[in-house]
Amino acid sequence: MKFGHFDDEHREYVIETPKTPLPWINYLGSKEFFTLISNTCGGYTFYKDAKLLRLTRYRYNDVPMDINGKYFYIKDGDTVWNPGWKPTQTDLDEYECRHGIGYSKFKGVKNGVRADVLTFVPVNDNCEVSKLVVTNDSSEEKNISIFSYVEWCLWNADDDSRNFQRNFSTGEVEVKGSAIYHKTEYRERRNHYAVYSVNAPITAFDTARDSFLGLYHYAGNPEAVLNGKLTNSMASGWSPIAAHQLDVTLKPGESKSYVFVLGYIENPVEDKWESHNVINKKPAEALLAKYDTDAKVDAAFAELNDQWDKLLNIYTVDSSNDKVNRMVNIWNQYQCMVTFNMSRSASYYESGIGRGMGFRDSCQDLLGFVHLIPDRARERIIDIASTQFEDGRAYHQYQPLTKKGNSDIGSGFGDDPLWLIAGTSAYIRETGDATILDEMVPFDNDASVAQTLMEHLRRSFGYVDTHRGPHRLPLIGRADWNDCLNLNCHSTQPGESFQTFGPSEGPVAESVFIGGMFVKYGNEYADLCDLKGLTDEAAKVRASVAEMNEILLDSNAGWDGEWFVRAYDSYGNKVGSKECEEGKIFIEPQGFCVLAGVGTETGQAQKALDSVKEHLDTKYGVMILQPAYTVYHEELGEVSSYPPGYKENAGIFCHNNPWVSIAETVIGRGDRAFEVYKKTCPAYTEEISEIHRTEPYIYCQMVAGADAKFHGEGKNSWLTGTAAWTFVNISQYILGVYPTLKGLSVDPCVPADFGDFSVKRIYRGVEYDITVKQNGAQKGVKELIVDGAKIDGTVIPYDASKKTVKVEVVMG
Ligand code: GLC
Ligand code: GLC
Repeated sequence: MKFGHFDDEHREYVIETPKTPLPWINYLGSKEFFTLISNTCGGYTFYKDAKLLRLTRYRYNDVPMDINGKYFYIKDGDTVWNPGWKPTQTDLDEYECRHGIGYSKFKGVKNGVRADVLTFVPVNDNCEVSKLVVTNDSSEEKNISIFSYVEWCLWNADDDSRNFQRNFSTGEVEVKGSAIYHKTEYRERRNHYAVYSVNAPITAFDTARDSFLGLYHYAGNPEAVLNGKLTNSMASGWSPIAAHQLDVTLKPGESKSYVFVLGYIENPVEDKWESHNVINKKPAEALLAKYDTDAKVDAAFAELNDQWDKLLNIYTVDSSNDKVNRMVNIWNQYQCMVTFNMSRSASYYESGIGRGMGFRDSCQDLLGFVHLIPDRARERIIDIASTQFEDGRAYHQYQPLTKKGNSDIGSGFGDDPLWLIAGTSAYIRETGDATILDEMVPFDNDASVAQTLMEHLRRSFGYVDTHRGPHRLPLIGRADWNDCLNLNCHSTQPGESFQTFGPSEGPVAESVFIGGMFVKYGNEYADLCDLKGLTDEAAKVRASVAEMNEILLDSNAGWDGEWFVRAYDSYGNKVGSKECEEGKIFIEPQGFCVLAGVGTETGQAQKALDSVKEHLDTKYGVMILQPAYTVYHEELGEVSSYPPGYKENAGIFCHNNPWVSIAETVIGRGDRAFEVYKKTCPAYTEEISEIHRTEPYIYCQMVAGADAKFHGEGKNSWLTGTAAWTFVNISQYILGVYPTLKGLSVDPCVPADFGDFSVKRIYRGVEYDITVKQNGAQKGVKELIVDGAKIDGTVIPYDASKKTVKVEVVMG
């Protein structure tokens, strides 16, 4: 069952009912100012950092679901309604929400009045712009009142949600004309404030929440709105808000339009005040003036769309499969931008006050983003590397505002260092810019111990190479990619964090998965060494990689007979082996070892993937492990804490499904690679939205596995490494257009019935027009013709002197 449909021409998902199974959200903003917005106008806004600079308040896990947002109320006689249905939930005659690329549109119609809202964050300003158009479609004159409403957050969202003894006394506002200013804590150490304004004279306003809502009321029935009259309240402590009232007369057929702007302003410390305790509003007024007419707003909206036209023009596919075209050309790349910006910090399921930027998460997000804006990827790599420790270890997370490592969670995750190689290699393969390797980069943000990025990579690889266990496999530390495989933790008390309790290292617990990463990224690191002329280092690394390859295939170490072992616990016992009672097989080492090429020559690769199909496959995707853990295993940690079928305990953890799909392309099985791709692909799961529940245009983190009560139900939408890895899978492995250090390689692996297709790829400033004749083949390039000349192999040598290159591929 569907709750809407794709409009590919406008790059929109059109939601036809406000009653979606979960709030279906969108992200506005792509630089520093961000808004999350749901299909009923719920959501929140922040500047740079969802924890430290939160502009508006949101209440997670509240009832009714998704209650705070940026609302417009329309009072027409005794009827009060919202264009997005919530929070009054007054039945609408018509409703539509269109989530587009960086904007959302709402249409609500009630009793002959139509309201259209367009909301977006302009490309170059720290504000959110909402254009509201009200139209009288009836045959009589209408006298209506429009009310706006936002609730301010007192900046630090964490403190805001718990330190009430202080916070109920600090709130401060100013009002000038139609502009309402939120200036809590500005009198002391903050030099930023927020403003909410409308480009028309207002009848009245409110800035105190109690005056607007009325005692014991809520946003669904605000007293001042029901009374038709705001009270001009000035907040003093408690909860400051911003609400405007506009009284509007509309003749039959008449439309009126209003522009609301919610902005963030920083002033220089010496220029904070206009007069005693009166804030300097000049920059705010300049900002508001940039969006005070429809024409200016329309131009800013066009600029936003132009920006996305350019970004989404870098990789496009034209195939006979609409769903693939739609995901590749629009939604998958869009989600890659969002995950790059947010890491795992702020969504409807990540509260923005817990995790900041994840070290491994951001390195992987970059893989799907780097072709869009390589300069930002470059900056991100340097930021991430700057949090690394001198011995090569890494902080697991860092805060986006300060860019400093987060000591609460600290370090010790065995896989983290290798992801830095993954991100850096992807950047150089995309851009050819090897100068990044010469950049001087601090350790733990201390510039006095800076070394080149190349040296950081050497220490990344070296750390894993020198931290091995009894089987010469990499030590796992607190966990590897699977944050919940906590083999050194041994926690028995409720409330102890699985990620920080117990020793951060143990000499015994090993990860086969990290072994696969070691092969994959060890090889990529060795290629970078070659690029820099470091032949000795390259040879040394390749020798280590070859040794690891043997260890992984050895039935006394990495190999279990039918598949790869997952790990060894701190007692030296196998995890993910036929010898185990529960958790006999895990997805991660099968996917990653094979995509790294391990076992492709011995037949073990194929065997491992066949085992995945036999033991882990479901119609909704491939599960992370089987059989699920039914009891808590203190020696395994959080993985066994979830009820069977959820999250890391046998859920379908979408992130690693593309690893399996990529692995299938490595051994040439296009049918199976695509089958795995389809199972979690939003354009396909749209049809089962009532089961899947999360947004049908983007990936979610986890789908409940076969053991779960709600098998097939998705959770934790938007912020997941699935976005990047799936884009890598479909664009680089299935469609096969893969950037190498020397140039673009074209080597597709598609299902037998996929048909001919073409890809347009802008790469290092050159446009490649690639057409593929499939001939029913799943893999194999029979002929590669570049500008009319046949060439050997699959790599098109990079030639900067050309503007466009015509590439013909004949498979077979
Ligand atoms: C979450 C984390 C990611 C981790 C994964 C598996 O998505 O953000 O870092 O690899 O879970 O545990
Ligand atoms: C929890 C989550 C896991 C996530 C981790 C990050 O363990 O279950 O998915 O990766 O937190 O800290």
